Amino acid sequence: MRVLVLNGPNLSRLGTREPDIYGTDTYADLTARCAAVAEALGIEVDVRQTDAEHELLGWLHEAADTGAAVVVNPAGWTHTSVALRDACALVTGPLVEVHLTNVHAREDFRRHSYVSPVATAVIAGLGIEGYAAALRFVAAQR
Ligand code: DQA
Repeated sequence: MRVLVLNGPNLSRLGTREPDIYGTDTYADLTARCAAVAEALGIEVDVRQTDAEHELLGWLHEAADTGAAVVVNPAGWTHTSVALRDACALVTGPLVEVHLTNVHAREDFRRHSYVSPVATAVIAGLGIEGYAAALRFVAAQR
């Protein structure tokens, strides 16, 4: 089973980005945790990050074409992008929306997600462990 773990804008800055909100785990820690969990589960993961929305849309098209499962943290685009929502809707495998923080406990504008209505599941507030939980869920769908 192949899972695309897709990360949106500014997530490469984890560790130094607003550590009081996002903690001190780095993006390298996030990718290493995903790789370790995937190995334990016997699944293949491909962890990617982009600050270019068209690149994320292309990766979602790739998942739609290959039937790959998706774990996606769309970051700021969660709250702004109809195009992202439409690309997520193309994915036929499970798609889990993940947020490091509990977006419902933050600013009002973070409470709305364009992605959640087309996601299989949503995980928010578990930090990097949210990715591990998403991978365990996706692996159980095999
Ligand atoms: C985030 C929450 C978003 O509101 C924010 O724009 C991010 C990160 C999270 O993982 O908690 O960039 O998706």
